[in-house]
Amino acid sequence: MAEQLEATGKFIDLDFFSRELILEIRADLERIQAEGTFVRAGTGQSGQGKGREVRDQVRRDEIHWLEDAIANPIQKILLGKIEDLKNTLNRTLYLGLSEFEGHYAAYPSGGFYKRHLDCFKEDDARIISLILYLNPDWKSSDGGRLRIYDLDSTHVDVDPVAGTLVGFLSREHEHEVLISHADRYGFAGWFKTQR
Ligand code: OGA
Ligand code: MN
Repeated sequence: MAEQLEATGKFIDLDFFSRELILEIRADLERIQAEGTFVRAGTGQSGQGKGREVRDQVRRDEIHWLEDAIANPIQKILLGKIEDLKNTLNRTLYLGLSEFEGHYAAYPSGGFYKRHLDCFKEDDARIISLILYLNPDWKSSDGGRLRIYDLDSTHVDVDPVAGTLVGFLSREHEHEVLISHADRYGFAGWFKTQR
């Protein structure tokens, strides 16, 4: 992953997480979603009036942030593996990654996320974006691909198939989620630098 990141500013990995663990993470997400604590994801605008209309045109997912302090055993394993990855990237590429933040994300059928960058003008602490997909029975006709753009506007597409882990430099790669024709589950997170 470090080699791919250094060469291309992004990486795709298929077996950092075991199939067994992926299915347990997926079950954890579904359990939490059934409790009704997912919230509609925003866009940095307020959640009312015009802000809500803008949000509806930009993204259609629901999210649930994970918190270290109250993580259950499965979430602890997930966050622990991500901590290992952070330490490896820091050791090999000297990226100075410190904090991590991440959330489960559920896109309904018809969901999408328009082309965007993951760092904001007022807060550019995000260095690396990570997405881990949790869809064991994904078919390519379900759509929902992640399209990652390069600076020269070429792109690569990634199917959100269970176990695929994607990472890219948050400041360099605009990306979008193409319209999904099935429920689409994942875990999205960011390694940040100290500000
Ligand atoms: C995001 C995002 C992509 C995906 O949450 O910022 O771009 O494939 N997610 O879910
Ligand atoms: Mn994004």
